[in-house]
Amino acid sequence: MRTILQAENLTKVYRVGSVDVPALRGVSLDVEEGEYLAIMGPSGCGKSTMLHLLGGLLTPTTGRILIDGEDLTAATDAKRTDIRRRKIGFVFQRFNLFPTLTAEGNLKLAEGIHGGSDGKKGGDPERRREVLRLLQLEDKMHHKPLELSGGEQQRVALARAVVNRPAIILADEPTGNLDTENSAIVLNMFQEMNYRFNQTIIMITHNPEAAAMCRRIIQMRDGQIVAPGPRVQI
Ligand SMILES: Nc1ncnc2c1ncn2[C@@H]1O[C@H](COP(=O)(O)OP(=O)(O)O)[C@@H](O)[C@H]1O
Ligand SMILES: [Mg+2]
Repeated sequence: MRTILQAENLTKVYRVGSVDVPALRGVSLDVEEGEYLAIMGPSGCGKSTMLHLLGGLLTPTTGRILIDGEDLTAATDAKRTDIRRRKIGFVFQRFNLFPTLTAEGNLKLAEGIHGGSDGKKGGDPERRREVLRLLQLEDKMHHKPLELSGGEQQRVALARAVVNRPAIILADEPTGNLDTENSAIVLNMFQEMNYRFNQTIIMITHNPEAAAMCRRIIQMRDGQIVAPGPRVQI
């Protein structure tokens, strides 16, 4: 087993005007490659802050994050962006698809940012097709966001986040806005990615069914981890 993500004693204080808002109060976490982990806890307890720190979208006030051995916190902005692009896929509850591009165009754009999967210019049509198939979007490839339902848009956003097969997928309430059917498709997708490609998944969720699919559940309260669940071997 290889540790792919290590967080050491993270704190985050937001400054709002002259007021300090402590959002994280010392969080440490080790994640092994191929783990599927849920983060749960009441609104405002610091879940999103933690996920943003782990993905290098925010910098911690104190503490250290290692991604596959690379120190994200000590990195320059350019280096941090580079680590993020090589290793991490983000799935947010609100998705920002490019409105003028089709579903396929949005995926290609994500591939382009990486310079094309496996160094192929223009991305990897096989991977693109595979991910669209897994998310049941094959017949929507040429649709623009406004020609898609909310659930379909969220699935395109998910496809975009995973099309390059990042080692780590960070998802912030990925089923939060979805109906049962769309949630099932999305969760099935995560399981496939985790099982078939050994991708590490860290998912914030309020959905007990989603959490039940994870091999470890972490509970947060008031900026801290209160119950690090056991790792389940399968
Ligand atoms: N950009 C910000 N500026 C100031 N305070 C923030 C900001 N983002 C989050 N917070 C505060 O930090 C705490 C944790 O927020 P968040 O990480 O979003 O929690 P969760 O995702 O668990 O709901 C909350 O008190 C929230 O109000
Ligand atoms: Mg949140």
